[in-house]
Amino acid sequence: MDTIKVLVVDDELGIRASISRILTRLTIVIPEHDSEVNFEVETAETGEQALEMLRAAPPNILLLDNKLPGISGIEVLEEVEPLNLDMHTVIITAYASIETAVRATKRGAYDMLPKPFTPAELKGVLEKVTRHLLVSRRAKELAAEKRKVRFQFISVLAHELKAPINAIEGYLRIVKDKSAGDKPEVYEELMERCLVRTEYMRKMISDLLDLTRIESGERARKVETCNVTEAAQEAIHTFAPEATKRDIVIELHADKPVEMKADRTELDIVFNNLVSNAVKYNRENGRVDIYLTRDNGTVIITVKDTGIGMEEDECKRIFHDFVRIKNEKTTRILGSGLGLATVKKIALIYNGDVSVTSEKDKGTTFTVTLRDN
Ligand SMILES: Nc1ncnc2c1ncn2[C@@H]1O[C@H](COP(=O)(O)OP(=O)(O)OP(=O)(O)O)[C@@H](O)[C@H]1O
Ligand SMILES: [Mg+2]
Repeated sequence: MDTIKVLVVDDELGIRASISRILTRLTIVIPEHDSEVNFEVETAETGEQALEMLRAAPPNILLLDNKLPGISGIEVLEEVEPLNLDMHTVIITAYASIETAVRATKRGAYDMLPKPFTPAELKGVLEKVTRHLLVSRRAKELAAEKRKVRFQFISVLAHELKAPINAIEGYLRIVKDKSAGDKPEVYEELMERCLVRTEYMRKMISDLLDLTRIESGERARKVETCNVTEAAQEAIHTFAPEATKRDIVIELHADKPVEMKADRTELDIVFNNLVSNAVKYNRENGRVDIYLTRDNGTVIITVKDTGIGMEEDECKRIFHDFVRIKNEKTTRILGSGLGLATVKKIALIYNGDVSVTSEKDKGTTFTVTLRDN
């Protein structure tokens, strides 16, 4: 239950009393905002008194008579304009001329209520203003939330990009000062490490671009019938050299070609990330098994590995941006922690999802479901 503060400004006692009576008994239900609204009413007889009250504690809604004994309603609005109050104003006036309406609107009035009005007309206007007030309140909350998420994202990003720069700087200083002795191979090794870190930064930046393009809807999508089996095969091809180096076998199990309506690049991103992880976090002589099925319009992709595995609480965190599990088995493996977050965002575009089951030191299985786009 929300309580909305209303200030009624009118020189006629009868009007002040009747508006107060109606509003204090009124409850407006707004189902789309899931809220019930009550009103708390204060009154003022003159513009001068209203100004004092507005400066002290502004209401949510101001019901303001224009024709007052001292300064007029519109003059009150002009006075408080610089304060930029978060308030919705309805001008009550017996002289509902176009000119008054224009002047009032210029000063930020939201609506007009011509005198004399019936209780139903008053309720109608109140309902309209309340709806507007709730919509703009919600929009402000959303904007604040968005700013916060953006800030968090940028802080983590800055932190993640600083780490490789610090490392590269450290290595370059050693090289510049020649502080690691006379052996050239030591310096070659340091330069090699610099290159690895630069490559990692480049990957991080391109992952980040993928992610932000997908999230913002900026990437031009091309939805067509795609061969999912072929996308899986290509990802296997990409990671085959790395797998062979560590004697890892990758096998694809798909009874027949699986097809779906999708953007091929998005499918590639999903497979590349899942297969990359299954190889990266595997053991020597390990296996990666990929299963593809299409069931009732849903494509199910399962990628199973025999790698290092994860604890249950770790499994819950890995779909968030920049999350990497840090332990002795992963310290030497580079990554941005954006891969699975991107997979999840893509799955959601396809009304699907991604889930994981894992056992420490035994292996991990990721399952992605996708529906035709
Ligand atoms: N198959 C897997 N087996 C074990 N741990 C995994 C597996 N896949 C992901 N993880 C854990 O989840 C974390 C997040 O994975 P994600 O793919 O999002 O990022 P990443 O691999 O670290 O970096 P990149 O952005 O380069 O993919 C990894 O750092 C790793 O700790
Ligand atoms: Mg990854």
